[in-house]
Amino acid sequence: AKKIILDTDPGIDDVMAILFAEAHPEIELKAITTIYGNVTIEGATHNALYLKQKYQLEADVSQGASKPIVRPPVGPTVVVHGESGFGDVEVPAEVEGEADARPAYQYIIDAVKAEPKEITLVAIGPLTNLALALQAEPEIVNLVKEVVIMGGAFGVNDHRGNVTPYAEANIHDDPHAADIVFSASWPVVIIGLDVTEQSFFTGDYLDKLRDDAGEVGQFIWDVSRFYLKFYKEKVGLDACHVHDPSAIAYVIDPELFTLREGPVRVVTDGPAEGMTIQKFDGRTYLHDEWEKHTPQRVGVAVKDAELLEIYRQSI
Ligand code: BDR
Ligand code: CA
Repeated sequence: AKKIILDTDPGIDDVMAILFAEAHPEIELKAITTIYGNVTIEGATHNALYLKQKYQLEADVSQGASKPIVRPPVGPTVVVHGESGFGDVEVPAEVEGEADARPAYQYIIDAVKAEPKEITLVAIGPLTNLALALQAEPEIVNLVKEVVIMGGAFGVNDHRGNVTPYAEANIHDDPHAADIVFSASWPVVIIGLDVTEQSFFTGDYLDKLRDDAGEVGQFIWDVSRFYLKFYKEKVGLDACHVHDPSAIAYVIDPELFTLREGPVRVVTDGPAEGMTIQKFDGRTYLHDEWEKHTPQRVGVAVKDAELLEIYRQSI
């Protein structure tokens, strides 16, 4: 099985991703590291510990950063994920178990040192923890197997931002961290809106999951009610996009995605703050800073029907 550390801000589609990773035999979910984003950092850790208890997850939980590296915090996205982060579903105030004593960035450093080239970091929230880990121990670039990120939007098929016209939420929450993570010399795969907005969980699909997939299917159905309402009212869709589970799907079967290679940068301020851009032509420009940056891979197409089928069969 492929060992992953899942860095997450649970979050409705984060729950969908966590339960997918846990269910699929190809993945060993070693740890859940938490990050602010959809909810506060305390909320994110609480939700992770709740899932650990509810589904007897073996994964460690480690609490991450409470705020971005440079920019002021954006704040939780209550309209998308609800007060608790799980839509209308209430999370009990008391949960068993405790987070690891180390902060997430340190947990990540220790884990990849203990098992060099064995662990894939999968980040489905703002990238602060990964950037802090790189700053504290630059050597991890050689110790991680791969870094898979849900975030960004590159304008493929007209997919641009979802929180501003040009920025996707996870990158917009901490653009400086994202630029550090994409510029580092480690292998990054970016699963952004260009592909996640090509796959849809429709009401019918989620109903079927509830009917066929036991308690886990029911729970995913329950948390998705609020999300579907948001999509209907604010996005004008009768379905929700498959953001965070798509990053897990990439780890399970990279062949589901077509990737484009080239260095990736992030706009860190101004009207396009949080915009992700990639240089993918072979040209040499007069003022070309890009050459110094590691080529990374960006998802530009997805076999959406296959992805949905793998998800359905795993849960
Ligand atoms: C991303 O933002 C969050 O709301 C979701 O959980 C996902 O990680 C999509 O832009
Ligand atoms: Ca997320």
